[in-house]
Amino acid sequence: MNPNRHLMTLDEFTIHQTRQFSNATGELSTLLRDIGLACKFINKQVNKAGLVDIIGSYGKENVQGEVQMKLDVFADNTLINVLKNSSDCAGIASEENEDFVAFDDDHSVHSKYVVLFDPLDGSSNIDVNASIGTIFCIYKRISPLGKPCTKEDFLQKGRNIMAAGYVIYGSSTMLVYATRLGVNGFTLEPSIGEFCLSHKDMKCPDNGKIYSINQGNSGKYDSKLLDFLNYCMEEDQASKRPYSHRYIGSMVADLHRTLIKGGLFMYPADSKNTNGKLRLLYECNPMSYIVEMAGGMGHTGKDSILDLAPEKLHQRVPIFIGSKNMVEKVLEFIK
Ligand code: AHG
Ligand code: MN
Ligand code: MN
Repeated sequence: MNPNRHLMTLDEFTIHQTRQFSNATGELSTLLRDIGLACKFINKQVNKAGLVDIIGSYGKENVQGEVQMKLDVFADNTLINVLKNSSDCAGIASEENEDFVAFDDDHSVHSKYVVLFDPLDGSSNIDVNASIGTIFCIYKRISPLGKPCTKEDFLQKGRNIMAAGYVIYGSSTMLVYATRLGVNGFTLEPSIGEFCLSHKDMKCPDNGKIYSINQGNSGKYDSKLLDFLNYCMEEDQASKRPYSHRYIGSMVADLHRTLIKGGLFMYPADSKNTNGKLRLLYECNPMSYIVEMAGGMGHTGKDSILDLAPEKLHQRVPIFIGSKNMVEKVLEFIK
């Protein structure tokens, strides 16, 4: 870091981390920088979303006669294009695409990493100006180098993740990323267009006072889970209950709060959606990795999320994630 200033950029930080390992090649740093770049493009577009009345709404032609793209499609295309040009990405899988995409040019077939992402999470919140995000994780491929990557590279257990992160487009734009060295948060400094270290070595508190769930679905929940929700609402001074209920409906935003303040986020299975709603590969795995590297926990109710062997790209799983003691408590009720 330059001793004459206090800001440390994402790039400087990852290079500094790489230098601590003599065998590290810096490829992960390059990938993170590229994902950061894509998210700066997405951020710019997200900030313009409120201007739909002026620039034309999605799917309609704007004054220049261009058709406006839906924001999730824009975010997906942006990440794919940036990663295709990245020197270290062999392919991607995204919530927005049915199949994975193997980059088959001469350079990419020799690249070691694959990236999985939810390009825009919480997209139903765009119209109301609430926080949305991008979620990603990076794996080392297991297929042989020199050939295009294969589906097996994407269907790895969460435990194999090399790095995972999210970007939250909120009152400020932040990138939070985790490796086995820990979790760090970077806030976008708009004047220089760089993510700068603002939240060093983030830890998820062991306890919290907030529970987060779409309680409107209660009619479809299992009775054991309803007992737990009643426990959250019950008065008990010693354990600081009743807990507050907060639910934005944007996993990134709800989990960002949970990571900082502690708490429990749940998207359970219900009688209609027997595997819950959220996707293992693009939402639950990366978020569980981040939360676990920060000392928290991510669980399906039966297994640790990161231990699941994925069967298909768009697999959904129930999730209970956040402060360790709160996840353990809900497991006591539902197991
Ligand atoms: P996406 O916008 O990527 O489809 O994800 C939305 C997800 C997640 O962000 C959020 O936690 C959940 O859907 C909210 O679902 P409900 O509206 O069913 O509560
Ligand atoms: Mn999502
Ligand atoms: Mn999405």
